[in-house]
Amino acid sequence: MESKETQIIHQAAEIIKRGGIVAFPTETVYGLGADAFNPLAVARVFEVKRRPYFDPLIVHVANPSNVEKLVKEIPSNAKKLIERFWPGPLTVVLLKEENIPDIVTAGLPTVAIRMPNHPMALSLIKESKCPIAAPSANSFGYLSPTTAEHVQEQLGDEVDLILDGGPCPVGVESTIVSFLEEKPRLLRPGGASLEEIESIIGKVEISPIEKGRPSAPGMLPRHYAPRTPIVLDWDEKKFDLYKDKNIGFLAFQEAKNNLKFHSVEVLSKKGDIREAAANLFAAIRRLDAMNLDLIVAEAIPEIGLGRAIMDRLRRASSRSEITGRE
Ligand code: TXA
Ligand code: MG
Repeated sequence: MESKETQIIHQAAEIIKRGGIVAFPTETVYGLGADAFNPLAVARVFEVKRRPYFDPLIVHVANPSNVEKLVKEIPSNAKKLIERFWPGPLTVVLLKEENIPDIVTAGLPTVAIRMPNHPMALSLIKESKCPIAAPSANSFGYLSPTTAEHVQEQLGDEVDLILDGGPCPVGVESTIVSFLEEKPRLLRPGGASLEEIESIIGKVEISPIEKGRPSAPGMLPRHYAPRTPIVLDWDEKKFDLYKDKNIGFLAFQEAKNNLKFHSVEVLSKKGDIREAAANLFAAIRRLDAMNLDLIVAEAIPEIGLGRAIMDRLRRASSRSEITGRE
């Protein structure tokens, strides 16, 4: 007899083959997937997410050898990273082959590809017999979902099926590296650490993200944002300014001096950055659900996954004025 999981993945693959859309777990965050070769199915992903069409999707494969058919060539540095990190939280941007529909890449000559490290994601791609184009399964601009419930709350009514694989173990999105220029370029810090990437291929360029045009088309300064304003700069004196306000605290480690906060979320009691990353989005969502006036986020050391965490916190805080909600 087929196990329940095999059955539901079979059902999900049938939906993908028929041009439907399925939310599925990966090791980083949940994705909202469609057959990458079916432009109409991909268009529905954009619609459901309310995502602007200028923001391209990542194509997910179940085997590194599948990349060859999707791109013109794979530079040796890209090969090295693929060998080291796949399946895993690394996305490579390469020159695309003509067979990939323009809607997937937003008309760019390049495509972003990754092989996720999650058994359900890999089975889904294999059974669907096509690469799966998928952004994170959240409404555009909001935090990425790290549980099936997060997807259900935001997009539940609009997707054909949600595969539940429990909480995502990494918790922040993949690291994106582009190989268009001679020197590889980091477009988004994420689950694969810059230190490890550079130990394999040497120094990479880092795109400035805070100023001017976003590096990856979707890397708008304000992104990954909850409804409640988030601030990173905080000191004791500011409590006086917000006397009658409810303030939440997103603490990295065991929180000290936290009595003045209305509620506190600790990302990792023992100060483990990986654990903090895995808890990040769910913790912000819980604070966001409490009708607070402000969330104060504690800075995290920018090493390993700490770089990705701080990138997301900076983006989430980039609009935050103390004046309240949007
Ligand atoms: O971990 C992840 O990467 C998750 C899971 C589901 O795989 N996906 C994800 O997708 O975070 P999304 O769509 O939320 O973010 C993809 C980012 C966007 O900022 C987009 O602009 C960028 O990748 N991107 C996609 N194609 C690109 C390309 N050809 N060149 C440059 N950036 C690209
Ligand atoms: Mg996203």
